[in-house]
Amino acid sequence: MSAASSTGRGSPPVSAGFPTTRLRRLRRSPALRRLISETRLSVDDLVAPLFVLDGIVEPQPVHSLPGVVQHTVDSLAVEVKRLSGMGVPGVMLFGLPRPEDKDATGSHAARAEGITQRALGAVRDAVGDTMVVMADCCLDEFTDHGHCGVVDPTTGDVDNDATLPLYAELAVAQARAGADVIAPSGMMDGQVGAIRAGLDDAGLLDTAILGYSAKYASALYGPFRDAAAVTISGGGDRKGYQQDPGNRREALAEVALDIAEGADMVMVKPALTYLDVIADVRAAVDVPVAAYHVSGEYAMVKAAAERGWIDGPGVALEQMTAVKRAGADFVLTYFAGELAEVLGG
Ligand code: PBG
Repeated sequence: MSAASSTGRGSPPVSAGFPTTRLRRLRRSPALRRLISETRLSVDDLVAPLFVLDGIVEPQPVHSLPGVVQHTVDSLAVEVKRLSGMGVPGVMLFGLPRPEDKDATGSHAARAEGITQRALGAVRDAVGDTMVVMADCCLDEFTDHGHCGVVDPTTGDVDNDATLPLYAELAVAQARAGADVIAPSGMMDGQVGAIRAGLDDAGLLDTAILGYSAKYASALYGPFRDAAAVTISGGGDRKGYQQDPGNRREALAEVALDIAEGADMVMVKPALTYLDVIADVRAAVDVPVAAYHVSGEYAMVKAAAERGWIDGPGVALEQMTAVKRAGADFVLTYFAGELAEVLGG
């Protein structure tokens, strides 16, 4: 009997003499493919990173991130409500000071009336508990030299230990302003422990920590630095505190340290160039694992799609699916709003 007659549906033999395999049979119809899909991407998997800039009256487009803006506090609250209405479960907020408010220690970051705290309050008022509100906890947006911590004046390097109390103070301010989750992204050793202790001392026992645990010194953060108006002085980089892209085992060591210090969830960043790391981390730990599909990953898709070279939404869906397939429980992505529309809330 031929392959065609055995299906009873008149499908032609697939190739001369080669038997129809189970794999091919189960791919035949959309319903079959849907039934046996191993990886299901849904709006529940998405977290939208959002920027809010102090001292502006209109949202400002970010040219290297088409579709992304620097929000005012008011436009941020509107956007978060819109995302919530589409079913997006979480946002990651980046507060950005006025340029004149940057200084060597990022002293404006933790003020109760600082931009991040005002934004957190407005978002909390807008969506209550219906959305998980996360706050990026770092100083690079607030320092005039653009490093993630304070800099030792004699060596010019970031002073890891002098930075830790500043992170703890910032985390407490963010939690008091309404953040559910504090996400330290500066890659200082001991940052999760210092923040957990600071939160606990302040009685903020319910505030969770998402560690940017395995964060690589990546060339893919370029557009973010436009969005956040961060320039590292003297053409410097973050290779002294972020991970070397060639190192895989080191990620597990970083993740283990963060969990031992009290991280409730861990993150791998960027996403697509580190799928092996996501898979390793997923296999090694039992806490939720996040991945950050970063600005450069988004910008590449957008730029090629604008030229008609690729199908943007199709590629975005495929990339998010890959990140989930590798083992991430949720993905931070500038595509969150767009994909929420495609996936349906
Ligand atoms: C640091 C921070 C960065 C990103 C998130 N948090 C930039 C950096 O480490 O230089 C990058 C995110 C992206 O590229 O989308 N506060």
